[in-house]
Amino acid sequence: MKERLTVPGFRARKGGERLVMLTAYDAATTVAAEAAGVDCLLVGDSLGNVILGYDSTLQVTLEDILHHARAVGRRRQRALMVVDMPWMTYHVSPEDSVRNAARLVRDSGADAVKLEGGRKRLPMIEAIRNAEIPVMGHLGLTPQSVLPMGGFKVQGRESEAAEAMVRDAHALVEAGVIGIVLEGVPADLAERITSEVEVPTIGIGAGAACDGQVLVFHDLLRLLPEKPPKFVRQYADVLDSQVDAIRRWVDDVRDGSFPAERETYGSAKPASTT
Ligand code: KIV
Repeated sequence: MKERLTVPGFRARKGGERLVMLTAYDAATTVAAEAAGVDCLLVGDSLGNVILGYDSTLQVTLEDILHHARAVGRRRQRALMVVDMPWMTYHVSPEDSVRNAARLVRDSGADAVKLEGGRKRLPMIEAIRNAEIPVMGHLGLTPQSVLPMGGFKVQGRESEAAEAMVRDAHALVEAGVIGIVLEGVPADLAERITSEVEVPTIGIGAGAACDGQVLVFHDLLRLLPEKPPKFVRQYADVLDSQVDAIRRWVDDVRDGSFPAERETYGSAKPASTT
């Protein structure tokens, strides 16, 4: 088995082999992502959308994330594990932010927390770092800012907004973040930030110049019927395969061909008991 990727190992990949990060929310997503060789697992607050059925991440609580992060932590073996801090768990005070970050790391075994926003988050980032918890930043289309942004829109198109994002990126690095997710950012701006900062940038809808890429598990494999954002490339249609398999089982039950006449636990063990 390959060695586990550590925080220093992650940082050392700046400008080197591209980093691959995928969201994971439970045992099955963790096992599949690691078997495929991803470098980093992100227990993203996107679980609000793809697992819990909300239409934004604002409803996700610390308990929601903890529930899923514990499952990922139990199964992950070698990938770096990063856990999202939900909205309002790092906005009130540095003390409150440290307490919440510590709970995420202590309860799940994660290597780092990720939080959204630029210079206004510096006191929280510094406090969390001073508690020896690595922090990943997240700039651009930050989904927890959906209300002030007025929707999920590419950020940094205007030159003033682009310059502000560059300043935010430098400030985050100065505060000691281990890397920065750039989401929904014009490709040339992501390229500029990537070339100017000394930590890895991980892009999502931000062009090809970042030091790595992240996608939401359910988008990559099409687990839900909603159209994903334009930049997503879907590598499988798991929803269709699942529906097809379940439909065949439904038919077998209805026509009496499943189970085989005398099949019981003793003759065929279900996967859940192995
Ligand atoms: O919550 C999430 O899945 C994320 C990624 C989209 C970067 O933050």
